[in-house]
Amino acid sequence: MSNPSLLILAGDGIGPEVMAEVQKIITWYGDKRDLQFDVSEGLVGGASYDAHGTPLTDETMEAAQNVDAVLLGAVGGPKYDVLDFSVKPERGLLRLRKEMDLFSNLRPAQCFDALADFSSLKKDVVAGLDIMIVRELTSGIYFGEPRGIIEEGNERVGINTQRYTESEIARVARSAFELARKRGNKVCSMEKANVMESGILWRDVVTEIHEAEYSDVELSHMYADAGAMQLCRWPKQFDVIVTDNLFGDLLSDAAAMLTGSLGMLPSASLGAPMANGRPKALYEPVHGSAPDIAGEGKANPCACILSFAMALRYSFDQGTEADRLEAAVEKVLADGVRTADLLNDEGVTPASTSDMGNAVIAALDASL
Ligand code: IPM
Ligand code: MG
Repeated sequence: MSNPSLLILAGDGIGPEVMAEVQKIITWYGDKRDLQFDVSEGLVGGASYDAHGTPLTDETMEAAQNVDAVLLGAVGGPKYDVLDFSVKPERGLLRLRKEMDLFSNLRPAQCFDALADFSSLKKDVVAGLDIMIVRELTSGIYFGEPRGIIEEGNERVGINTQRYTESEIARVARSAFELARKRGNKVCSMEKANVMESGILWRDVVTEIHEAEYSDVELSHMYADAGAMQLCRWPKQFDVIVTDNLFGDLLSDAAAMLTGSLGMLPSASLGAPMANGRPKALYEPVHGSAPDIAGEGKANPCACILSFAMALRYSFDQGTEADRLEAAVEKVLADGVRTADLLNDEGVTPASTSDMGNAVIAALDASL
């Protein structure tokens, strides 16, 4: 049987730096665990625009459709602010999500013990936190039509459309309920059914799927604004949160900060199963391209490394190896290795991106 295939799209800003550390880890798995991957690389975002005048070429899109999993770094940067909307770096990422139909975006917010003091919230609020946000990723206001900026009378009008079909809501709801069964068995669904028809439909469909297929799972509903407030007040009340594309974007950034740093949080974007049974999948850190520190070796590679752990778990059925990699990151943090984003103390010299990657490799070696 051939090796599983990975397409690496490192992208812009700190993307290539953090991905270089993941590549060391991929090599480690080949050498030490006999888990070989066929790795290919491509361009996305501003890097692709610079080379080809588009944030994603048709060839790279095609390649992404034909691998077992895509690993993405980050896209965007101020250099590209002047570009036309249609070729901005973000369009490359959105095209990948849409054309691969990656409707279920898993964003875990887990607070590592060693970082509980580092959150801007009180330690007892965040210590032991382990929640999973399931964000709908291929529909809603990100993609709804009509959209655009039009002239009306003597002024311009900006238009976006929030639109959800029943089947779009049902499939992401199922993925949230399935995950909950393997975790704390609780789902909280968030929308704005008090002001939006799409929110009313969202609540109805989630309730129907629950009654028909998942009545063993505890389900609650919350307005998304109240959900944001509850995430800051007492986040440990949640297990799985399921929500739409835009609310999920906002809520997942907020949830990320509960854990101390955006530099720690991975994500998986999953679609329907392919012929080989693996889901269509793209893995990426939740953080952006951080152009202010790009190229300086300051970035924290943990989010990208933990995204590869999610790939091991969700694409390659290697739960034990995913546990090993997550435990290695946890050990390194417990040992006090800190990149700049995890330090308040100006007097301490931070670990560089590669120091952090090397420490994770050392912890992996020690786990054998
Ligand atoms: C995210 C990002 C993206 C989004 C951007 C880069 C298009 O913020 O993945 O959360 O808005 O979805
Ligand atoms: Mg975001």
